[in-house]
Amino acid sequence: MWDVDGNKYCDYYNHGALFLGHAHPVVVKAVQEQMALGGAMMGDHNEFQIMHSNKVTSMVPCAEEVRFCNSGTEGTMYAIRLARTYTKRKKVAKVAGHFHGANDQLYVAVSPPFDKPQTGGVPGECFTNTVVLYEGDVEGLEKAAKQNDLAAIICCFVHGSGGGGIQMDIEYIKALREVTEENGIVLINDEVITGFRLAPGGAQEYVGLTPDLAVLGKMVSGGIGSAGGFCGKSEIMEMANPKIPGYERWERATTAGTFSGNSLSMAAGYAALDLIDKAEGSLNRHANQLGEKAKKELNQFFEEEKIKAQAVGTGSMISVYFTEKPIKSCYDLEATDKKALYRYHLWLVTQGVYTLLGKNFYISAVHTEEDIDYLVEKTREYFKG
Ligand SMILES: Cc1ncc(COP(=O)(O)O)c(C=O)c1O
Repeated sequence: MWDVDGNKYCDYYNHGALFLGHAHPVVVKAVQEQMALGGAMMGDHNEFQIMHSNKVTSMVPCAEEVRFCNSGTEGTMYAIRLARTYTKRKKVAKVAGHFHGANDQLYVAVSPPFDKPQTGGVPGECFTNTVVLYEGDVEGLEKAAKQNDLAAIICCFVHGSGGGGIQMDIEYIKALREVTEENGIVLINDEVITGFRLAPGGAQEYVGLTPDLAVLGKMVSGGIGSAGGFCGKSEIMEMANPKIPGYERWERATTAGTFSGNSLSMAAGYAALDLIDKAEGSLNRHANQLGEKAKKELNQFFEEEKIKAQAVGTGSMISVYFTEKPIKSCYDLEATDKKALYRYHLWLVTQGVYTLLGKNFYISAVHTEEDIDYLVEKTREYFKG
């Protein structure tokens, strides 16, 4: 990637949307061909939408059906609407520290203080049906499920931006699955970042646990935008079927949008996922291995030099944090030295390593061992001069 002054960067930023890197020839070709045929707006269903639906349902474990929308935020909104329609319940639980886009009802308990909204302009009433859970607190989870009539629990099995790429404790993920099953609650895994990245089937394949619904974004349209979707069990997804017999309009979930499933995003998404699918996990394994290499070599260096920093994360999503205390969950990130992190990231940017300041490094399928060597070398240089 180059800036306007001609400086060259190795990009680990892009909000984690570019698992195949910038301008991958397969995606470029699909976009060019579709533009020449008529662009994005067909108004109705299109061939790529069908091909892409079949591709997503063949790749993502929970996906018996899929619907597309225009962003991850929309995807979380629709997934919750579906869960509420299906269960005929109101309340929704989220896990503190998890980010699900700018969706009003979930824009609380994202970063500390967890009892405050993440933004202005969202009245407190928006959160009256939102219950906050805490990662690791199985007792609290069981209590919340018994005390509230929960329609859904939404979470990220593996954290994206701001959560360090850290996987939730597997015992807590299993508890989420058990408690939701026992209480008829829809378990939604937000795979906006992890989808098609950690494995062809996303975090649910990587972790080995299938939710009822998953939210998709970013790579679902090959990283070109208008990227969103939600998928899962047919009996829940069918609540979004406008032709569902015997249901009044207000008894089913409306999930339509002008550019939802548009032919351009579908063509790009299909081309990208087809590539990932046909590689049978090798692209995902490549990126994950590079992530593990970076983590290992950075941690070796921090240990050797007694630098109070740690590289953490899962597969191709890694982060560095400045602290002595072991980082086990997203809650350990708050007490880390943010200024030191910004200074480190800013230095990297000046050296041609492009990162989202203070957040994750997103490693793609087209990064190389040499790219990771350069990141480690520049980190050494930063600390040793
Ligand atoms: C886990 C997660 N969910 C939802 C979203 C929102 O997606 P979008 O920015 O496409 O609305 C994001 C965005 O980064 C995300 O990381």
